[in-house]
Amino acid sequence: MTATERAAIGGLGHSVKRKEDPRFIRGKGTYVDDVKLPGMLYLDILRSPYAHARITKLDTSKALAMPGVVAVITGKDLEAAGLAWMPTLMSDRQMVLPTDRVVYYAQEVAAVIAEDRYTAADAVLAIDVEYEPLEPVVDPFRALEPDAPLVRPDREQKTNHIWNWQAGDKEATDRIFEEAEVVVSQKMYIPRIHVSSIETCGCVASFDKVSGKLTVWLTSQAPHAHRTVFSLVSGIPETKIRVISPDIGGGFGGKVPVYPGYVLAIVVSLQTGRPVKWIEDRSENLQADSFARDYHIHAEIAATRDGTMRALRVHTVADHGAFDAAANPSKFPAGLFSIGTGSYDLEAAHFSVDGVYTNKAPGGVAYRCSFRVTEAVHMIERMVDVLADELDMDPAEIRFKNFIQPDQFPYKSPTGWEYDSGNYPAALQKALDAIGYQELRREQAEKRARGELMGIGISTFTEIVGAGPSHTFDILGVKMFDSAEIRVHPTGSAIVRIGVQTQGQGHETTFAQIVAEELGLPVENIVVEHGDTDTAPYGLGTYASRSTPTAGAATAVAARKIREKARLIAAHLLEVDPDDLEWRDYAFRVKGSPERAKRMSEIAFAAYTNFPQGLEGGLEAVTYYDPPNLTFPFGAYVCVVDIDRGTGQPTVREFLALDDCGTIINPMIVEGQIHGGLTMGLAPALYEEIVYDDNGTMLTGTLMDYLVPTAMETPNWRTEKTVTPSPHHPIGAKGVGESPTVGAPPAIVNAVVDALSHLGVRHIDIPITPWKVYQILEEKGVAE
Ligand code: CDP
Repeated sequence: MTATERAAIGGLGHSVKRKEDPRFIRGKGTYVDDVKLPGMLYLDILRSPYAHARITKLDTSKALAMPGVVAVITGKDLEAAGLAWMPTLMSDRQMVLPTDRVVYYAQEVAAVIAEDRYTAADAVLAIDVEYEPLEPVVDPFRALEPDAPLVRPDREQKTNHIWNWQAGDKEATDRIFEEAEVVVSQKMYIPRIHVSSIETCGCVASFDKVSGKLTVWLTSQAPHAHRTVFSLVSGIPETKIRVISPDIGGGFGGKVPVYPGYVLAIVVSLQTGRPVKWIEDRSENLQADSFARDYHIHAEIAATRDGTMRALRVHTVADHGAFDAAANPSKFPAGLFSIGTGSYDLEAAHFSVDGVYTNKAPGGVAYRCSFRVTEAVHMIERMVDVLADELDMDPAEIRFKNFIQPDQFPYKSPTGWEYDSGNYPAALQKALDAIGYQELRREQAEKRARGELMGIGISTFTEIVGAGPSHTFDILGVKMFDSAEIRVHPTGSAIVRIGVQTQGQGHETTFAQIVAEELGLPVENIVVEHGDTDTAPYGLGTYASRSTPTAGAATAVAARKIREKARLIAAHLLEVDPDDLEWRDYAFRVKGSPERAKRMSEIAFAAYTNFPQGLEGGLEAVTYYDPPNLTFPFGAYVCVVDIDRGTGQPTVREFLALDDCGTIINPMIVEGQIHGGLTMGLAPALYEEIVYDDNGTMLTGTLMDYLVPTAMETPNWRTEKTVTPSPHHPIGAKGVGESPTVGAPPAIVNAVVDALSHLGVRHIDIPITPWKVYQILEEKGVAE
């Protein structure tokens, strides 16, 4: 088969142009705000100016009297209907609207429903509300003190401590620390950040009083899970709820939680029988939607004097805000943080995390999602450099010394994970060669002699994606399998419906490519549908790079079921025994006479017109895939920074990202995922941080203060790859979307610290702003 013929199929490894782009680049995408229904009402929300306050007066009469205002809803109204609280995805509960007190800045206080958006916004300002400010708890360490104000008096436990979660072997770890030749320790804070996706959150809820059916167009990364939650809360059967997740302008975990605005729009539509639209503005999105990180970490490594890492001990205080709504799998309140032993072969490790309530917006994992892997990778990749600094070793050398070796896979980590495959030394060597590491070190030495500040940072991370196997992974009890349904039509085109939901990742293209590869049908004749709970099979949604490992696998398995049936039809057409056929070059061929062959297009027609007696007609299959394990992508990143001694400004001069995500479906899409992910790694390393003052007021609630990097700040990313397929995934693919966001920040920080290490600098917390660096330069007497 020629390369051109293969390219026309467009299976695995082809950079097929994204099927979704023609509609996006022509402005023909359909986002939730594009949905306009006759008689639609608009909802707007009054938000709290205090982080912690008692509501002493809430008078809605003036707002209600305004022409065009249909209703004003308060917490008391919802309480009467038993709807003032809703469950979070982490089995906590969250106020939809408060009845007597607010617990974070920008919390929803009341909702106005009006005939148009502007009237709703004006009426919000006409609500007469008075507060009695209460002492807020902004710092999680203060929250743990016995006399700290209680964030959640509604709970039985009269403390701000939510849970303690541990992983690994404490005794074995402590024993190694007692006898260790070298111990290094470091405190680090990974601050609160926000995804700030281009499209904010919103919905259109439309209840048809005649059919009793509720349809909700929703900015949802997990439409089926949201339908289940809506059904549980409202009592409406799932058959009477349709969630449609149309085009999504970026999710990154921010569109996984259920927000009060969704519930309010649904309640009003159920009451009025009219469609209700709620769309957040930019500041509401930044101030009140799910955040990420906010981890206060204390890490220690025990090692030998020659640089062999033996044990890792980590204690973390995790600030979850006022409600635990971190949207992790149920059994993992600290997500997959225990992946923090990274790419290194340690004897023992112990992790302990304390979740804490504070008077801040709820959330925890919404930033290219990551289930706390970013925090874990930041911690271990920084700690390896801290140890290297202590022992005066090269950061590349210490990594080579401690890597899990290729022959150790499948590798059981000290915290219980089984890494599926990897080759870390080969990846790092390739990255170092590609960037010219030794030459860079020589350049650095010369520059140092001249007083110039240049640093080289390495990050050799291991990711963990693809939640997940049903024995351990569920959200609110629903197992985290995923699904695909494929129907091949008589003329050889096919429709694929998947349980995951794209937000820009290109699933309409890559999932079609998986089917093209398995069935030999041209990719252009395969349509992928998702995001409509009335038609798509049940799935747990797209976040934390789980789509390819779960629904991608389901798609391959479903296609293989079709292929097995196709084998019977091909045998019938060729008048041979099915066992005499082999699948090669996208056709069933008679063994020994490969020119006697049937392609899937002919077989598909026969499946409806000429199939063997006793076989069911048609050609379709469904798979609910329960992954046997997660997948463990990895990478070796090298970053070069220059620091301006006059301003403290660190500039990323070069960045080489080598990623290994197993079998690559679409190299162009993977490259795009990596470029975007790297910029989302640059952002928290140098720019983004959500800051609260002592009163709990957010100081970074607009894009003037919250510094999202643009093309101007983004360096030229260079990419490389190795390919180590996952042994348990049907096509060997691992997830990729979140890897660069996980791997990039420590590479950047390690580079900045490396530039300053000869001055005695061992750690700087992110974001590394010019001001932070300038203060260090002044303190060390090298500022210009
Ligand atoms: O769950 P999510 O789609 O965000 O992440 P992913 O599974 O890492 O996939 C991101 C995009 O890259 C999808 O279009 C994948 O199909 C594609 N991809 C690929 O082409 N090859 C891989 N080995 C992994 C992902």
